[in-house]
Amino acid sequence: MTLGWRRLLPLIALLLGAAEVRPTQEYLSPEIRAAQEDPSRHPGWLWVDEGEALWRAGDQSCAACHGSIAGMAGVAARYPLVAADGALLDLEGRIERCRTQQQREPAFGRESEALLALASAIALQSRGMPVAVTTDGPAASFLEEGRRFYETRQGQLNLSCGGCHDDNAGRRLRGDIISNGLGTGYPAYRLEWNTMGSLHRRLRACSLGVRAEQFPLGSREYLTLELFLASRAKGLPVEAPGLRR
Ligand code: HEC
Ligand code: HEC
Repeated sequence: MTLGWRRLLPLIALLLGAAEVRPTQEYLSPEIRAAQEDPSRHPGWLWVDEGEALWRAGDQSCAACHGSIAGMAGVAARYPLVAADGALLDLEGRIERCRTQQQREPAFGRESEALLALASAIALQSRGMPVAVTTDGPAASFLEEGRRFYETRQGQLNLSCGGCHDDNAGRRLRGDIISNGLGTGYPAYRLEWNTMGSLHRRLRACSLGVRAEQFPLGSREYLTLELFLASRAKGLPVEAPGLRR
C-alpha cells in the first residue's frame, strides 16, 4: 500500500504543478518516520540531551544570557540569515559566534559533537514550526547565488540538484526514496553514518554522488545553497533532529 502511494508522488506533483515541494517526512519509510517522532527509538536524542546539558554548563553558560532553551522556539526556522555585519550565518555559525564572542571560548568546530548537540537541542525547540527564512533585503543576493548553484548541472553525471530532487522526487535511488532535498531535518542522525551529522555533510555526500566538487563545511557555496533550500521549504515544518537511513 505504502509503496503504491509513494509511486504516485511524481504524478501528484505533476498534477499540482512541477514546483510542488513536499515535507521530507512524507518521503521517509513508515518505520523511519515513526522512529523520528519517538525519542525512545531515535538515537539523535543522545545529542539533544547533551545539547541541553551544554546549554546550562559553565559560569558564562548559554542559559546565563538566554534563559531556558525553550526560549529558542522559532529560532532555527529563521536560519540561515544575514547578521548585522552582513555575514550569512547558519544555526551552527550563529552558535559559534556566541561561543567565541560571548563566551570567549575557542570555537567548537564544524561537525564536532558539541556543536551538533547544541544545534540539535536548539532546532528541536522549533520542531513542527513553519520554515520562515528571510529572502529579501541583504539576503536576496545570497539567495540568487544559492539558486544558481541548485540549478547548475554538475559533475561527471552532469546533473543539477533539481534533476534529482524535483524531476525524480518520489523515485527510488540506491535504496533511498528521493525527497525534495530540503534541510528541514538537520542536524540528522543517519544510520549509515552511525552518528549525527550536519546539512553540509549531507550536501557533500550529494556533491560526491554526482562526482562534483565537494565544498568545505560552512563554505559560502553550501551556506547560500542552504538558504535557497530553506526558501523552497518556506511554510513547511522543521523536522529536526531528523532520522535517516
Ligand atoms: C554573554 C551573553 C551570551 C552568551 C553567554 C551566549 N549568547 Fe547567544 N546571543 C547573545 C546575544 C547578545 C545574541 C544576539 C546577537 C545578535 O543578534 O547579533 C545572541 C544570539 C544567539 C542566537 C540567535 C538568536 C536569534 O534569535 O537569532 C543563538 C542561536 C544563540 N545566541 C545561541 C547561544 C548558545 C548556544 C550559547 C552557548 C554556547 C550562547 N548563545 C551564549 C548573547 C549570548
Ligand atoms: C543523483 C541524484 C541526486 C542529486 C543530483 C542530488 N541529490 Fe541530494 N539526495 C539524493 C538522494 C538519493 C538523497 C537521499 C534521499 C533523500 O532524502 O532525498 C539525497 C539527499 C539530500 C538531502 C537530505 C534530505 C534529508 O532530509 O535527509 C538534501 C538536503 C539534498 N539531497 C540536497 C541536494 C542538493 C542541494 C543537491 C545539489 C548540489 C543535490 N542534493 C543533488 C540524490 C541526489
